[in-house]
Amino acid sequence: MTRFPHRHLLGIEGLSAGEISLVLDLADSYVEQSRSRERKSQLLDGRTVVNLFFENSTRTLTSFELAAKRLGADVINMAVQSSSVKKGETLIDTAMTLNAMHLDALVVRHAESGAVKLLSDKVNCAVLNAGDGHHEHPTQALLDALAIRRRLGRLEGLVVAICGDILHSRVARSNIHLLNAMGAHVRVVAPPTLLPSAIERLGVEVHHTMKSGLKDADIVMMLRLQSERMSGQYVPSIREYFYFFGLDYEKLAVAKPNALIMHPGPMNRGVEIDSEVADDFKRSMILDQVELGVAVRMAVLDLLTRPAREGRAA
Ligand code: CP
Repeated sequence: MTRFPHRHLLGIEGLSAGEISLVLDLADSYVEQSRSRERKSQLLDGRTVVNLFFENSTRTLTSFELAAKRLGADVINMAVQSSSVKKGETLIDTAMTLNAMHLDALVVRHAESGAVKLLSDKVNCAVLNAGDGHHEHPTQALLDALAIRRRLGRLEGLVVAICGDILHSRVARSNIHLLNAMGAHVRVVAPPTLLPSAIERLGVEVHHTMKSGLKDADIVMMLRLQSERMSGQYVPSIREYFYFFGLDYEKLAVAKPNALIMHPGPMNRGVEIDSEVADDFKRSMILDQVELGVAVRMAVLDLLTRPAREGRAA
C-alpha cells in the first residue's frame, strides 16, 4: 500500500492494518530525518498548516508545529484565547473563515467528541484530529504504536495493559482500535468508576486490579487521571488511587521481565505513576513517545497533503 485513502485523519477506528502500517513505515523514515543534521525538507514548501487548539497542549501542539516546519510548510498556531471565538464566533464559522484563506491542513483539538468531524465536513483542506473530547486522539495512538514497534519489532501478539482513567481517555480509545487492528491483546485496568459501560465490546479484557491486569504484560500504558473532565468524585482519594492503581515497581513485578512503560503525558507523578518507574531509562518509553510524535505527525501531514500536491482528489 502506497496511498492513504482518506481525506482526513479523524480517528483510528476504521483504519486497516495496512493503512496503519503505511503511516508507521513512513514515520520511521521521518525519525531518521529528524535525527539528522538536515532536519528540514521542502516537501510542503508553499503549503499552509493551521493548528487550532481549543484545549491546552504541550506535546501535540509543539510536535505538529515542528512536524509541519520540518516539512517546509508555513505554520500558524491560532491563539484561540485571543481570537474571535471569544466574541462568540462558532466553531464552524471559525473553520470556514480559516478555510477561505486556502489552507492545506487544519489540525484541531476540541473538548467535544465529534467536533473535529463536524468541522471536517465544512472545509476543503485535510483535517487532522489532535484530540476531541473523550473520543479519539489518533496521532497519539500512532506514535505509541511506532514506539512499541521500534522497541519490540512488532505489535501482533503483544499483551498491552492500558491502566487508569479509561472513561475520560481519548488516548485509550484510539489505542484500543489501533492495537486490535494490529493483532495485539488489549487489557484495560481500572476501578469500575473509571471504565465506560460495555467497554468489553471494543474487544478488550477488563481487569479491576493491577495484579491481574499486568500479569505477563509486555507493555504497561498508564493514563492520567483527567480531573478537569470529572464532575464529581470518581476515586475516594488520590492516596488510595495511587495505592491500588498507581504504577510502582511492586505492581510492575507481575508483568513480563523488562516490560516497557508508557504514558502519553502530561504525567501526574505520585498519582498514576511513581517517579522512579517513570524515569527508569531502560524501561520507560515516555520520552521516546515524545520524540516519535514529531515523526508520526510529519508522516500524516505528508500523506494527507499528497493528493493536493499531486493534483488529484483524495
Ligand atoms: N499526549 C498529549 O496529548 O499531550 P498534550 O496534551 O501535551 O498535547
